[in-house]
Amino acid sequence: MLHEMKHPVSDVALTILRAQDTCTTAFRQQTQRVALMVLAECLRTMPIDAVRVTTPVGEADGCRPVGRLVVVPVLRAGLAFTSAVEQLCPDAELMFAGLARDETTAEAHWYMDRIGDVSGAFVVVLDPMLATGGSVGQVVARCMERGAAAVVVGCIVAAPEGVAEVEGRFPDVRIVTAALDSHLNDVKYIIPGLGDFGDRWCGT
Ligand code: PRP
Ligand code: URA
Repeated sequence: MLHEMKHPVSDVALTILRAQDTCTTAFRQQTQRVALMVLAECLRTMPIDAVRVTTPVGEADGCRPVGRLVVVPVLRAGLAFTSAVEQLCPDAELMFAGLARDETTAEAHWYMDRIGDVSGAFVVVLDPMLATGGSVGQVVARCMERGAAAVVVGCIVAAPEGVAEVEGRFPDVRIVTAALDSHLNDVKYIIPGLGDFGDRWCGT
């Protein structure tokens, strides 16, 4: 299931991210804004329990998180969601997946796996760019193998090819993106996209 946000606040921020002359400082600032909105949408389906709360003047229905919440940023670019995690789900367990795409084949290879046992957890996999779906697909598969009860993928820009890849392999996984772009070019970059997210956010 794909959820494209289509919100003016994230669209304005995304416009600045896309512009080739945006400096690192502005790129990080606007990323924070979009990342917060993407993560909030990812958490829409997180498990909650109903509770009652006493206000100064009465009783109200409320809710609280229940069960394990695990967040898995995909390095490096997924680190851009760290501030959003601190703000929206500071109790979440943080685990990390390190993958890098081969520059010629665009295939993603693991260089670090810090995904532990995620038995019964609601898992949010965060990667700003969903291009071929190779990186995210491998991370989702590993979370499933290690016991995830549900997996949601959060990204900032997605290509139809990557969405089809993830949806084809994992029909129950929800994908949240700020934007669904047109296609991949011949070197598997998202068009129109925003270029190399990791390089632009890291300032490298
Ligand atoms: C980029 C991006 C995603 C991946 C998407 O990472 O941050 O992780 O490519 O492409 P895919 O859907 O085709 O797998 P990259 O390998 O450049 O590493 P980085 O985050 O360290 O820059
Ligand atoms: N990774 C990026 O950072 N950008 C793309 O367009 C594709 C993969």
